[in-house]
Amino acid sequence: MSSSRPLRVAIVGAGPAGIYAADILSKTDLDVSIDLFERLPAPFGLVRYGVAPDHPRIKGIIGALHKVLSKGDVRLLANVNYGVDLKLEDLRQYYDAVIFSTGAIRDADLTIPGIDLDGSYGAADFVSWFDGHPDVPRTWPLEAQEVAVLGAGNVALDVARILAKHPKDLMSTEIPANVQAGLEASPVTDVHVFARRGPAQVKFSPLELRELGHVPDVDIVVYPEDYDFDEGSMAAIEATNQTKQVVKTLTDWTLVDPSQQTASRRIHLHFLQAPAEVLGEDGKVVGLRTERTALQGDGTVKGTGEFHDWPVQAVYRAVGYFGSPLPEIPFDDLKGVISNREGRVVDLDGEHLPGVYATGWIKRGPVGLIGHTKSDASETVRHLVEDVADDGRTAPHGEPQQILDFLAERGVDVVTWDEFSLLDAHELSLGEPHGRERIKVVPREEMIDIAKGRA
Ligand SMILES: Cc1cc2nc3c(=O)[nH]c(=O)nc-3n(C[C@H](O)[C@H](O)[C@H](O)COP(=O)(O)OP(=O)(O)OC[C@H]3O[C@@H](n4cnc5c(N)ncnc54)[C@H](O)[C@@H]3O)c2cc1C
Ligand SMILES: NC(=O)c1ccc[n+]([C@@H]2O[C@H](COP(=O)([O-])OP(=O)(O)OC[C@H]3O[C@@H](n4cnc5c(N)ncnc54)[C@H](OP(=O)(O)O)[C@@H]3O)[C@@H](O)[C@H]2O)c1
Repeated sequence: MSSSRPLRVAIVGAGPAGIYAADILSKTDLDVSIDLFERLPAPFGLVRYGVAPDHPRIKGIIGALHKVLSKGDVRLLANVNYGVDLKLEDLRQYYDAVIFSTGAIRDADLTIPGIDLDGSYGAADFVSWFDGHPDVPRTWPLEAQEVAVLGAGNVALDVARILAKHPKDLMSTEIPANVQAGLEASPVTDVHVFARRGPAQVKFSPLELRELGHVPDVDIVVYPEDYDFDEGSMAAIEATNQTKQVVKTLTDWTLVDPSQQTASRRIHLHFLQAPAEVLGEDGKVVGLRTERTALQGDGTVKGTGEFHDWPVQAVYRAVGYFGSPLPEIPFDDLKGVISNREGRVVDLDGEHLPGVYATGWIKRGPVGLIGHTKSDASETVRHLVEDVADDGRTAPHGEPQQILDFLAERGVDVVTWDEFSLLDAHELSLGEPHGRERIKVVPREEMIDIAKGRA
């Protein structure tokens, strides 16, 4: 194989992890040529299809990712699905190394009776709906007046806030018309968030929690009888500023006089209540049963045997995301990640699969902020550079045109960066007359037609 040509690297998944990896790799001393594959017709992963539409500051990170892709050092090949349109053996023909950065898109399981009832949903699916993901149904059944959200992380906060917020307060955002219509029809008045541990053990970020208190015409209700701390809690409060701030915000809410709470909608935050069963009638959700838990001294809890039924008509579980396996790539089913050591993908014997790497949520699990995927990418790229230093050029067909010919032969309708830019401009122009940053195009075919100049 020629060692004079650039090293060819494929990155699969154009979320922040993949884009940061491409950026970092392009800035090394290696003579490298990078293709970034993406299953959807648009890049940016969960920044586009996860971050809540009413968080424009975070959505703004897209601006930084945009810059990386518009520099021209990295070639975007979107609308290409690894595992369907091409597999590892194909990639090995055209690339010397492959980095997987496919993230996590589905909800972690919650195995309690009734979880499969009509009206019981995964947060990830709801998030995909309100963020206009092309591969989920256009309508969402918002028929419940009282709703339960299970889990006490930032996704639970996003779900509770979007459910409770009046749609008019979302009208400055990029939400598509179908989402606006769905939210306008919602009869919701009360959203109950259930944390299975205590106030010092929640995983809310201070800023996101405080933001709840500023949602117009929505009261936050915290019940003093739910409010308990143990020695482990006190240690956690002492140990981190983040926990201190979260507990302060929650404590302030316990002191609010209920007679002052006159909003038309409420978010109730319940602590020390573990989900035990989703209650149903005729196949539909009619309630949630929780078990009261007690702190054990070290921040962990145990069940007390005391149960409470809540009359809700919908249940959203926001108990974490989980990665999905990819064909031909070793996977750790317990952790939901590609089996890897610091980003080097390893087989069952712990041996590095030559030329194969992972980064982002599919490398270390679905926890952490966008910024964390940068340090992740640095580690993975560092190992890749170490490994290929001597004889890295192994692909028999390393000319950049050859992969395009292969995909064309397979009938894959690749969306390039320039084509995506047409879609991007179109979305911005949809928003402009309404004083909105953008309005998203949702249907996949429409996205592709606009990108290709066919619409
Ligand atoms: C609901 C939600 C809200 C969040 N809000 C914030 C926030 O406000 N601030 C913050 O800092 N962090 C936030 N996060 C966390 C942040 O989104 C993640 O840290 C980050 O997106 C992980 O990056 P990633 O690139 O590993 O995965 P992803 O962002 O999921 O990107 C993976 C990409 O791979 C693509 N892909 C998957 N499978 C294939 C395949 N087979 N072939 C080709 N491509 C494929 C996907 O389509 C996707 O584009 C949020 C997370 C969630 C779930
Ligand atoms: N605005 C933002 O910055 C933002 C927005 C969204 C997401 N994110 C980030 O994205 C990552 C993922 O967020 P996430 O909310 O999905 O996950 P998370 O932060 O891990 O929170 C998951 C929550 O679910 C609970 N849980 C897990 N299993 C449960 C069970 N069986 N029964 C009841 N509760 C259960 C956990 O409780 P225990 O602690 O008791 O296990 C925890 O409260 C996080 O790093 C988050 O910060 C950030």
